[in-house]
Amino acid sequence: TALVVAVDGPSGSGKSSVSRATAASLGLAFLDTGAMYRAVTWAVLEAGVDLSDAAAVAAHVRTVALVVGTDPQAPTVATVVDGAEVDLTDAVRTPRVTANVSAVAAVPAVRQDLVLRQRALIEAACLAPGPGREPGVVAEGRDITTVVAPDADVRVLLTAEESVRLARRARQDLGTADTEALEATRRGVVERDRLDARTTAFTTAADGVVTVDSTTLDFDGTVAAVLEVVGR
Ligand code: CDP
Repeated sequence: TALVVAVDGPSGSGKSSVSRATAASLGLAFLDTGAMYRAVTWAVLEAGVDLSDAAAVAAHVRTVALVVGTDPQAPTVATVVDGAEVDLTDAVRTPRVTANVSAVAAVPAVRQDLVLRQRALIEAACLAPGPGREPGVVAEGRDITTVVAPDADVRVLLTAEESVRLARRARQDLGTADTEALEATRRGVVERDRLDARTTAFTTAADGVVTVDSTTLDFDGTVAAVLEVVGR
């Protein structure tokens, strides 16, 4: 039978890298739902849709085809333009997308749309696992344990103290010692957390969700802690 592992958490909690490693270790697919919100944000920006017009944003998002690759070794996201697939895996990480994704993700009709697509991807990973893959998926985001897959076999909230999260994020985004750039990243993360907190409840564990605090754990230690929750 299929295994669905739901992981939520804020920026810099390590949820993406830890979820990927957990999926790889279990032979499961990996679903990065944040990449989907980022991809539709890219498309909305590309089309020049007015971000303050929620109805226009949702209407455009409905027209955006998403092709999501769920191999934990090399997760991808792409869209289709004029019948040709356009890879967005790198484009969705640009500062412009990062700065605008919270606004797009705050539109209820956008969330309803993406939640349905995410459930379909989870179901596909359970029913038709890729070659050499076990049936099931590790899906990560901010509302997986509560909205997308509240019936998941395992539900984890990955947290870490804010100072640790900001330091991880800065290292990840920059790899520079430029204090001004680090301060900009820090402000960006704090602001995104603030906006996201109005949309999803990703900082407190819902009933039945196990909290894994990675503040004092390194990467391998965090993966081990999640695998322990999974019980494999
Ligand atoms: O960069 P980080 O890992 O913090 O975020 P992400 O997982 O790439 O998600 C990017 C953005 O998508 C978040 O800041 C949220 O605004 C939105 N998001 C969401 O609303 N719900 C999800 N399940 C996943 C992401």
